[in-house]
Amino acid sequence: MKQRLFEPYTVKNVTLKNKIVMSPMCMYSADDQDGHAQLFHLAHYESRAAGQVGLIITEATAVLPEGRISHEDLGIWNDAHIEGLKDINDAIHRHGAKAGIQLAHAGRKANLRGEIFAPSAEAFSSSMNVPTEMTEDDIHRTIEAFRKSAARSKKAEFDIVELHGAHGYLINQFLSPLTNHRTDKYGGSREKRYRFLKETITAVKEEWDGPLFVRISGEEYHEDGNTMDDFIFFAKEMKAQGVDLIDVSSGGVVPAAIEPYPGYQVKFAEQIKAGAQIDTGAVGLITNGTQAEEILQNERADLIFLARALLRNPYWPKQAADELGYPLEGPRQYTRAW
Ligand SMILES: Cc1cc2nc3c(=O)[nH]c(=O)nc-3n(C[C@H](O)[C@H](O)[C@H](O)COP(=O)(O)O)c2cc1C
Repeated sequence: MKQRLFEPYTVKNVTLKNKIVMSPMCMYSADDQDGHAQLFHLAHYESRAAGQVGLIITEATAVLPEGRISHEDLGIWNDAHIEGLKDINDAIHRHGAKAGIQLAHAGRKANLRGEIFAPSAEAFSSSMNVPTEMTEDDIHRTIEAFRKSAARSKKAEFDIVELHGAHGYLINQFLSPLTNHRTDKYGGSREKRYRFLKETITAVKEEWDGPLFVRISGEEYHEDGNTMDDFIFFAKEMKAQGVDLIDVSSGGVVPAAIEPYPGYQVKFAEQIKAGAQIDTGAVGLITNGTQAEEILQNERADLIFLARALLRNPYWPKQAADELGYPLEGPRQYTRAW
C-alpha cells in the first residue's frame, strides 16, 4: 500500500513536502515581557525544520497584549514584532518547510496583571481573574486586532494562518454555550455564538488570501457544551467562508477530567471531516509513523499534527520514515548520520 505521510499536501498556493505538522506550542519564552521572539525561538523552530517537518505552526501568538496567556507569550499586536517572526520564518524556509502562525487571544484565560476580557464576566476557575464582559466596541476592537495581525503575518512571510478557536480561549468562549451567556447578537443560538468567529474570519480574509486554518475543540467534556452536530454546523459555516482546514483538538473550555489515550481526538477530526466535507488535522497522542499512516490511509484526517513527540525529538520525521521504510532525505550537512 502506498504510504501517505511523506506525500505532499497542497492547500491553495502552498505545497507542504509532507503531512507532518508541528502543532502550536507556547514556549513562554518572550523574555522581554513584550512579545518579541528571542534566539531560543529561532533555534527551537529551525531545528524542527531541519528535522524535515513539513509545516511548523508557531505557538499561540497574541493579537493584543491583554490576549496573552502569560506575560512571556509571543505577540503580533505591533509592527515591531514582524522582524523577529520573519527571522524565524527565514530559518524555517531554508530547510524547505512551510511556516504557519497561530493567531490567538486568551480571553478569560489570560493569566496577566490588569484587565482581561471575555464574552461574559465569569472566571475560568476560582484562581483566575474575573474578566470584563466585552462591549460591542471591545468586540470590534478585537476583531480589528485579528485583521491587523493577519496583515503583519503576511509581512513576516508566513505561509499559513491558523486562528486559535480551541482550548477555551476567546474565540472558543464565544462559540461555547458554557462560556457565552450574552443576550445580544453575539450570544444565544449557535448562529449567534458563531458571529464573533464569522466576523473575525471575514476581517482576516480582507488581509490574508493564503491558506487559513482554524483550530477548534471538537469535544467540551460537559453535557451542556457544544455537540458534534454544533461542531459540524460551525465547520460548514467556516467552509462556506473559505476556511481550508479545521485542526481538531478538544477540551479546555471548562475545567474537566480528561483521560487521554493514543489518538484520543482523532475521532473528532474524522467526524467533522465526514460531516462538513472539509479537510481536517488530527492531533493528540499521535506518536509513531504507523499510527499516523493509519489515520491518513483511512482518510480520517488530512494532516498529522504532533506536539510533544516533536518536543522530545526534533527528528521525529526521520524516526517515522525509518519505521515506515521511507527513504527520507535529510539536511545535506547530516548525510553521514542520516
Ligand atoms: C508545551 C505545550 C504548549 C502548548 N501550546 C499550545 C498553543 O500555543 N496552542 C495550541 O493550540 N495548543 C497548544 N498546545 C497543545 C498542543 O498543540 C497539542 O494539541 C497537544 O499537546 C496534544 O498533542 P500531543 O499529544 O502531540 O502533544 C500545547 C501543548 C504543549 C505540550
